[in-house]
Amino acid sequence: MSSRGNWGSRVGFILAAAGSAVGLGNIWRFPYITGKNGGALFVLIYIGCVIVLGLPVMLAEFALGRATAKNPVGAFQAIRPGTKWHYTGFLGVLTGVMILSFYSVIAGWTLGYCYKSLSGQLAALGKGQAAALFRSFIASPWQLILLLGIFMVLTVHIVAKGVSAGLEKYSKILMPALFLIMLLLMVRSLTLPGAEKGLLFYLKPDFAKINGRVFLEAMGQAFFSLSLGLGTMLTYGSYLGKKENLVSSAAWVAVLDTSVAILAGFIIFPALFSQNMAPDQGPGLVFAILPVIFAHMPGGMGFAALFFLLLAVAALTSTISILEVPVAFLIDEKKWPRRRAAWLMGALAFAFGIPSALSGGGMKFFSRLPVVHVDFLSLWDKVWGNVALSVGSLLIAIFVAHVWKTANALAEITAGGVSFRLARLWVMAIKYVCPLLILVVLVSQFF
Ligand code: TRP
Repeated sequence: MSSRGNWGSRVGFILAAAGSAVGLGNIWRFPYITGKNGGALFVLIYIGCVIVLGLPVMLAEFALGRATAKNPVGAFQAIRPGTKWHYTGFLGVLTGVMILSFYSVIAGWTLGYCYKSLSGQLAALGKGQAAALFRSFIASPWQLILLLGIFMVLTVHIVAKGVSAGLEKYSKILMPALFLIMLLLMVRSLTLPGAEKGLLFYLKPDFAKINGRVFLEAMGQAFFSLSLGLGTMLTYGSYLGKKENLVSSAAWVAVLDTSVAILAGFIIFPALFSQNMAPDQGPGLVFAILPVIFAHMPGGMGFAALFFLLLAVAALTSTISILEVPVAFLIDEKKWPRRRAAWLMGALAFAFGIPSALSGGGMKFFSRLPVVHVDFLSLWDKVWGNVALSVGSLLIAIFVAHVWKTANALAEITAGGVSFRLARLWVMAIKYVCPLLILVVLVSQFF
């Protein structure tokens, strides 16, 4: 195991896992999905999904990873050699490359906005101007491909260097800094005239807005935000020593991750409604409203630059965790050197990212695909960021509960005398609740 790398410390592991979880999923994706799905009721269902589906699956991934000390493909093979279960691992590798592709495009947006803040283009924008600026920004192909490339090179460079030598030591300072700026933004947003309408939207459930799609979106968002379903947490668990407490680690990651997402909503919705802007405008939502908030703050452009920079760092600690999955696969199973594995998979993700970079107007075809009538990025986000993660989580739950068996998983979780008071509940969840619920939500989409 030492040749694969290892975490320096317990805190290092929690920081890395939380760094993976907290990212664009919380600050970019959560507000836009919440806005699209009607607000408060979605938030409630989302929190339910985190507790009932996310936490149990996270624990299952940690246990499977640590027990086998392998990448997702190798982990399934180690426990059930000669079966087809390792295809779950392949699905994870594929999903990882695809999510990395469009995720890095959005990360490129944050780099672009950091530059725009510094160069004064974001200064004193009203709501119409901010939205127009964003529209012309996402329609400029070369700029977006360049930003995608820059971000991908950063990700690959860090992953090529190895496991514990990386960003984690910086993120100890940078992530709390991001959180502080977010608190400040929340205060500004909440004190804008008309902010109450946004609070109402965010906090007061409207039961007329419920439908099957809301459940799928909430479930997918929970898996996406907690980095589940493709073997990220499995891989991170595989670098972990036996002394660590998997239960409390999972709880910490879920609490931190969910707090950041909820906080992001308290920034976006009050400001949005105070400007009479629509909550259901899709992936551009936060980029259209954040400049307006900064414009209403003294020293706003300094804060804007810092915020977008820290957001890019948060995205980076997530992308390295996604890239780590295909890279660990090539290292373990194909005996590739880490450096070569990282560059190859990064290049693949870059290539698949290009259509996403062109889907905001850069190229007509990708901006509105035939048949499905959505842009490429939205389609990829839905297919890989939602459906594939749900299928992956379903397979992981079934495998851990019914193939590996909960007794073996529990032995791994409680190794070294770790107490797990909610063990019974976890067994119920991973055996019955997770598989059934995920299946029902997925299948119900076809009706
Ligand atoms: N959870 C991260 C975010 O919210 C993104 C991410 C990292 C991810 N690793 C993942 C999503 C694995 C799905 C699967 O920004």
